[in-house]
Amino acid sequence: MKHILPALALLALSLNTHGGQQNDVTAAKSAIKEFAGALQAELKTAMQAGGPVAAIGVCNTQAPQIAEEVSSAHGMKLSRVSLKNRSPGNVPSAWQTAVLEKFEVRKAAGEDVGSLAWSETASVDGGQEFRFMKAIPTGGICLTCHGVTIAPDVKQQLAALYPEDRATGFSEGDIRGAFVVTKSLD
Ligand code: HEC
Repeated sequence: MKHILPALALLALSLNTHGGQQNDVTAAKSAIKEFAGALQAELKTAMQAGGPVAAIGVCNTQAPQIAEEVSSAHGMKLSRVSLKNRSPGNVPSAWQTAVLEKFEVRKAAGEDVGSLAWSETASVDGGQEFRFMKAIPTGGICLTCHGVTIAPDVKQQLAALYPEDRATGFSEGDIRGAFVVTKSLD
């Protein structure tokens, strides 16, 4: 009987921790949905209105701005990263690189790219941080600016804005990168 109480306390604690992370995962997923939806809508409108060269400008200015807006609305930090990044602002950190590499392994093992996700609670600077990542599949429309063959005017505009662009050569179904959500738990 003596060790049942501590065991129960431990169980309650672990259930509670798990429940907390489950809530954060749900919140992170809905923040990503909002971010992705807004990005896609902006991209589609810009492509239809002014073509891909004009749409590059939208990605360039709107993507970071939408990320910021959704982040502050949800009390979580949202960003996009890639092993082959276009913007120097989207270089993955060490743990993000490790997760992106794991996603590639899981994809190679047959998992659906659209449902690749990962989460953990990590210790950082004496505090706790919730971390969530979700893979971004490369769709047909993405190839205009991230594909193997890119129109000369698009190529020129990309080179002007992103001299260190590494985000070309993708095919449909590839992992283009991932959404990252972090939240301090202190
Ligand atoms: C009109 C050109 C264009 C199209 C089409 C486009 N992108 Fe991009 N993409 C960009 C630009 C420009 C950036 C850099 C944005 C920045 O400066 O933050 C970018 C950045 C990204 C990033 C962030 C990582 C990085 O490489 O910097 C991801 C992820 C991404 N795009 C995914 C997609 C997906 C998925 C699609 C299709 C749904 C898509 N893109 C379609 C131009 C485009």
